[in-house]
Amino acid sequence: MRDKNPGQAFAGGDQEIIESWTLNAEPWSTVVRQQQIESRRLVTDRAIIEAVVVRSPMAVLDLGCGEGWLARALAQRGISVHGVDVVPGLIEQARAAGGGQFSVMSYEDVAAGALGISVDAVVCNFALFGDAVVERLFQRVPSLLSRKGVFIVQTLHPLVACGDLPYRTGWREGSWSGFDPSFVQPAPWYFRTLEAWTGLFARAGFRLLEMREPLHPATQKPASVVFVAEVDEAAIARD
Ligand SMILES: C[S@@+](CC[C@H](N)C(=O)[O-])C[C@H]1O[C@@H](n2cnc3c(N)ncnc32)[C@H](O)[C@@H]1O
Repeated sequence: MRDKNPGQAFAGGDQEIIESWTLNAEPWSTVVRQQQIESRRLVTDRAIIEAVVVRSPMAVLDLGCGEGWLARALAQRGISVHGVDVVPGLIEQARAAGGGQFSVMSYEDVAAGALGISVDAVVCNFALFGDAVVERLFQRVPSLLSRKGVFIVQTLHPLVACGDLPYRTGWREGSWSGFDPSFVQPAPWYFRTLEAWTGLFARAGFRLLEMREPLHPATQKPASVVFVAEVDEAAIARD
């Protein structure tokens, strides 16, 4: 039985995340396509679309695209999207619905240089749950961006997602609480404080341009945090 203490390094957590999404691809697609998650419906879908569209990109890479809703939303606005996800079932669903080009690919593959593309924006919507693999992925993103390209990440707001546990970066026990019983095997996830998120961007050579905290209209608490960053050419030149 796994110790539930926060901050414990769950061995293999990054791999467990992939296994969990593979098992839950079907119910996840249903939840997204039926717009069952209130915070997405009311706040965060619009937040990520706006954060991307305001930058006027022509080409976007959607990392961890899932069943492809964001690609379809951006395609409707004339943007060309390449979506990648590690789960073949989700990529099949995305391809069937159209709106972009979709590839089965893990963050590990992307970090290793498997994607030879250059885009105006790399976007990642609620799809970064790991530790070491996310660190490596961030290191790769600058090479996928055109000049003045942006990296846009929407994720759980740490102050809200923290709950009653200590506000400390580290692995946490997963849960599908609030989702229907067809969801199985929740994976551990790597909780990052705001300081840890900003450090992650900085270590990969990014400069934060914006940090948005869209509010949930009912709770008046942040429904998410959206980071918008660009490559800090000065920092890279100094290295
Ligand atoms: C919460 S879903 C979000 C999907 C989509 N971005 C959306 O907004 O609906 C997280 C996604 O991240 C993907 N993912 C998680 N770990 C991954 C990895 N190591 N490589 C590629 N995709 C990964 C999962 O397969 C899943 O589709």
